[in-house]
Amino acid sequence: MKLIAPSILSADFSRLGEEIQAVEAAGADWIHIDVMDGHFVPNITMGPIIVEAARKSTRLPLDVHLMIEHPERCIEMFAKAGADWISVQVETCVHLNRTIQQIKEAGARAGVVLNPATPLSAIEWVLEDVDYVLVMSVNPGFGGQKFIENSLERIRRIRAMIDQKAADTQDPDAARPLIQIDGGVNSGTIARIAAAGADVFVAGSALFGSPDYQKTINDFREQIG
Ligand code: DX5
Ligand code: ZN
Repeated sequence: MKLIAPSILSADFSRLGEEIQAVEAAGADWIHIDVMDGHFVPNITMGPIIVEAARKSTRLPLDVHLMIEHPERCIEMFAKAGADWISVQVETCVHLNRTIQQIKEAGARAGVVLNPATPLSAIEWVLEDVDYVLVMSVNPGFGGQKFIENSLERIRRIRAMIDQKAADTQDPDAARPLIQIDGGVNSGTIARIAAAGADVFVAGSALFGSPDYQKTINDFREQIG
C-alpha cells in the first residue's frame, strides 16, 4: 500500500478548505497536519481548531503529527477534533508505551516519529504496538527543507526490524506498522524513498507549491509504483 499525504503546512491558509478539497480531488489519500509548539521545534503552527476545520472540509483520514512537548496532555483534544491518525515524537515521550496506549484509547491510530539523529532502537520495543512509524527526513519545524539522504538507510533498517518482529511472532497475519516519510519529498527523491520501503509519503512544498496538484500527484504515483 502506497499512500500520499499532503502536508497542509505549505497550503494557502486563507483558503484552507479549498486547498484541502483540491488535493482530495487530485487523489490524495490522507491529510497531514503539522502541530508545532515553539518549544520542541522553533515554530508555532496549528491546534485542534484547525483539525476541526479540516474535518469539515474532507472525508479523508486526518493524520496529525505532534511536534510538541508533553503530547500526552493534548491527545484527547486532537482525537475529539477529528484526528484519525496521531503521531508523537519519541524525543518528547518519557512514557512512550503509555502515550501510544492513550492514543488508541482516544480512538485514533498511533504513530511514533523519529528525528533524523534519533537512534532507531528508540522504537524497537513499541513496534508491535504502533500503526505507523514516521521517519523524519528533515529536522522538524519548517517546510521546504532538503531531504537528508541517510534517511533511506534508516527506512531500510526499520523495514528489516519490522520484518524480523513479524517473523519472530511466527504469525503470517501479524500486523505490520506502515513506514511514513516526512521532509523533502519531491519528484527528485520520491522514487528512491519508495524503493527503500516507505508506505506513506508526506509532501508539503513540492505539492502545494506546484501549479497543478493533479499532475504532481500523478507524477508521484507513477514514481512510487
Ligand atoms: C516538517 C513537517 C513536514 C513539512 C514537510 O517539520 O513535519 O510535514 O510540512 O514539508 P516539505 O514536504 O516541504 O519538506
Ligand atoms: Zn509532518
